[in-house]
This record gives sequence, structure tokens and C-alpha cells, in this order.
Amino acid sequence: MAGTKAKKPSGTSSSPSTSSGSCITKWISRLAVFFLFLAGCSWLDTIKDRFYVLDPQSLHELAQAAIAAAPTPTSTSFMVDYIISNLTATYPSSTIALNHNSSEWVFNNAGGAMGAMYIIHASITEYLIIFGTPLGTEGHTGLHTADDYFNILVGEQWAFNPPNLEKEVYPAGSVHHLSRGSMKQYKMHEGCFALEYARGWIPLMLPFGFADALTSTLDYKTLYYTVIYTGREIIRNLLIFKI
Ligand SMILES: *[C@@H]1O[C@H](CO)[C@@H](O)[C@H](O)[C@H]1NC(C)=O
Ligand SMILES: *[C@@H]1O[C@H](CO)[C@@H](O)[C@H](O)[C@H]1NC(C)=O
Repeated sequence: MAGTKAKKPSGTSSSPSTSSGSCITKWISRLAVFFLFLAGCSWLDTIKDRFYVLDPQSLHELAQAAIAAAPTPTSTSFMVDYIISNLTATYPSSTIALNHNSSEWVFNNAGGAMGAMYIIHASITEYLIIFGTPLGTEGHTGLHTADDYFNILVGEQWAFNPPNLEKEVYPAGSVHHLSRGSMKQYKMHEGCFALEYARGWIPLMLPFGFADALTSTLDYKTLYYTVIYTGREIIRNLLIFKI
């Protein structure tokens, strides 16, 4: 069986020695382009910090203030409105483009978990969303090129990161920092909503965000609105040069 391939005639692609020189040149230039590309990427990675507009510490304080101001611990809509009006008052529109329409919720299936999200801000280097579900969900965090700060607003998030066999518990008011390049199993225990802030290379996170829709749910409506809202917010921030 293994021999059948080797016995096939190699008639069609005859390569005389004259073309092998140009073939080597071709591969050398391909390698050069590839290494230039890698060098460009690592240079971009060293300067990405200068594009950040938001910061994890003040967002954590804002999440805690929203929880403290809410009439009940499950007043999610109140907390969302509180966060939007604070961000709008804090950052002028010349500094950051924010999405004020809190009706723009879309489902999000990623890493086996399902919830809904509202994109507050998205650029090439940062995003800020509300993510959660009143039902609970569980899955893989994904392996990302960005640092992720998960500020719990309502409920509790659990996480598992072997070889530590104890469960990590993140209650409302706490922040779960998933550093770039690490991954965990997580659970939005019962009902849970969070203010999620990611900083790093956002476009490289998008395949994880779309994979479940493309291979499992086939929910093209959600996919359509996710692309429209994300793309629109990234473009709005590019236009004011807040990459
Ligand atoms: C926004 O929230 C932060 C954190 O709680 C607070 O320090 C700041 O004063 C608030 N800004 C406005 C304009 O409400
Ligand atoms: C807000 O989003 C909803 C849902 O997409 C849409 O129906 C509505 O027209 C939007 N409102 C504004 C002011 O853009």
C-alpha cells in the first residue's frame, strides 16, 4: 500500500537544473520577507502600550462603584448604564470612541461557553465589553495575545488552572486577570455578568470569537451583527487615531 504513491510516474513536473537556482532564490526571498514580517511584529509588540486609552485599575474601581450604587446585587442594566455614563463623562470623544447603544447585545459562543455581550469599546489594541448570562455557562477561556481583566459585576466566576486543583472563585467586585498566553477552564457560575477589558492584539483574538459560530451554531445573524458592531467600533477608533 505504501509503495503505490512512489510508483506513480513523475511525468508532469520535470524540473531541469536551470530552474533549481531560481527556486532557491525564490525561497531565500520568501524567508527574508517572513523574517522581516516577524521583526515588524515584534517591533509593533514593543510599542503597543502607547495606544492604550483605558487602564485596568480605574476600570476595576468603576466596576466596584457601579456595584455599590446598584439598588440590588443583580441590577445588571443599572450597572451597565452607570459604567457607560461614567466613561462618557471621564473620556472626551476625541480620546476614545464609545458605543452608547446598550441595546446592541449579541450572543457570543466561544470556547464552548455561551453568553451575550455588549461591545462598549473596540480598537486594534483594546476592547471593553459586558459579557455574561443569567443562566450560567462553562468553557475554555481561549489562548490569547492580549491581557484579559474580567471584572465581575453580578454573580460569581469560577476558574480551574492545573496543576492547582483547587477552584478559583471570583465574586462580584473582584477582578480575574488572565495574562497573555495563559488559559484556564472557567465557569460563569449560575447567573454572572462581567465588565471585560482586554489589551493587546485584539484582531488575533477574533478567530476564537468566531470559530464556534462557523463550526457549530451557524447562527449567521449573530455573526453578522458581531462583525458589524466590532468592525464599526474599531473603525471609529482608527478614525480618531486611537488605534
Ligand atoms: C467614574 O468612576 C470613578 C471610579 O469610581 C470615579 O473615581 C470617578 O469620579 C467617576 N467619574 C465620574 C465623572 O462620575
Ligand atoms: C440601538 O440598537 C438597537 C438594536 O440594534 C437598534 O434597534 C436601535 O435603532 C439603536 N439605537 C440607536 C439610537 O442607534
